[in-house]
Amino acid sequence: MSWTPLCLNTELTEKTAKSYQFENVSYFIIKNEGLVYAYLNACPHRKIELEWQENAFFDSSKDYLQCATHGALFLPHNGYCITGPCIQKSLTSIETKLIEGRIHINLANIP
Ligand code: FES
Repeated sequence: MSWTPLCLNTELTEKTAKSYQFENVSYFIIKNEGLVYAYLNACPHRKIELEWQENAFFDSSKDYLQCATHGALFLPHNGYCITGPCIQKSLTSIETKLIEGRIHINLANIP
């Protein structure tokens, strides 16, 4: 298992996101209700990146993650799509872990 270090936990504020690229893998992390989640940056509808502006993954209410292309909404805590063309599908989640205050992700098991 290989853990990739990202930003400090304190650098990711509530209801914000940061996107990253590693080799050909695009992914993003978010903080929601104090917890960190990571997902592949690929909408289940068309397998394209979700955001229309850098690091803009939450919708205007900040309650959901939103795909900018066709407006699908996803639950932040599990990536499940509740409305839109990919309803009932999910973003691919990535394992996260805090190590000495820094967010790490495990890219080893990504399909
Ligand atoms: S590409 Fe995301 S909803 Fe269509």
